[in-house]
Amino acid sequence: MNGPVVVTTTLPDPVLDRLRTAGPVWTPPDPGPLDRGALLTSVPGAAAIVATLNDRIDAEVADAAGPGLRVVANVAVGFDNLDVPALRARGVEVTNTPGVLTDATADLTFGLLLAVTRRLGEGERLLRARTPWSFQLGFMLGSGLQGKTLGIVGLGQIGRAVARRALAFGMRVVYTGRNPAPAPVERELSATRLPLADLLATADVVSLHCPLTEGTRHLIDADALATMKPTAFLVNTTRGPVVDEAALATALADGVIAGAALDVFEHEPDVHPGLLERDNVALAPHLGSATTETRTAMAMRAAENVCAVLAGAAPLTPVPIR
Ligand code: GLV
Ligand code: GLV
Repeated sequence: MNGPVVVTTTLPDPVLDRLRTAGPVWTPPDPGPLDRGALLTSVPGAAAIVATLNDRIDAEVADAAGPGLRVVANVAVGFDNLDVPALRARGVEVTNTPGVLTDATADLTFGLLLAVTRRLGEGERLLRARTPWSFQLGFMLGSGLQGKTLGIVGLGQIGRAVARRALAFGMRVVYTGRNPAPAPVERELSATRLPLADLLATADVVSLHCPLTEGTRHLIDADALATMKPTAFLVNTTRGPVVDEAALATALADGVIAGAALDVFEHEPDVHPGLLERDNVALAPHLGSATTETRTAMAMRAAENVCAVLAGAAPLTPVPIR
């Protein structure tokens, strides 16, 4: 008999029903996130933990759960909130949700990119403030995307989906990554691999799609921003700490780059005040995967991973070894 499946947030009913086929399910009284103390007191005896990126699941949590813990299923593709080595050292399977959120996140990336380059947020604020305006040829001009170069940092599934959209917008694609993408992918996307410094110096839009690791924390710092074109835009829909947010606020204030589109923040849910006050920044509250269809698919994938492991099978989508 397995211990309970501890779920740290509210999940759709069909997903809870699926989890109940694996064992009793504990859910929090409100959507959370659970604070650290509540997390630690909810896990003792758990066979599985279904977590979100708000939950830091590390050795302390695994030890609080006890030796019956068999799987931690993150409802996210990113898993920087999990101490994977500590969990695996305790024989705990660790899973994420790749694939099911690729298109939703790529769509949101383009939505934010258009929001900043075409000044959509600024225009909407103007209307809602009931500011007088009229159509004029020179009014609120933005920057076009056609013929521009998109620089993708991390050509994984989401980076590739963003690249496909960029091609449809008439952009040229360059990318940087630890390894070259497979040749058929490079061909499909007509994408050239560049060292990061060259990508930053040539791209009109730099879009971040690498995971957050110790190697990518503050990848985009003051020095990196200084090598970008003054007409370039930075888009971040991966994890906030990939960008040094204070350095970005300074760069935007100094005109080092033209603008930024951000779905994620270094100290979520806080946003650097220097970004909040700028019109050339498009902001969203971590909505990359936030469609009903995608969030349901993510939660169901996590449930399938839990059910597989608790039935003694291999998980569908274990996190990759880095
Ligand atoms: C969301 O940010 C995710 O990693 O899925
Ligand atoms: C703009 O509204 C146009 O008609 O060109």
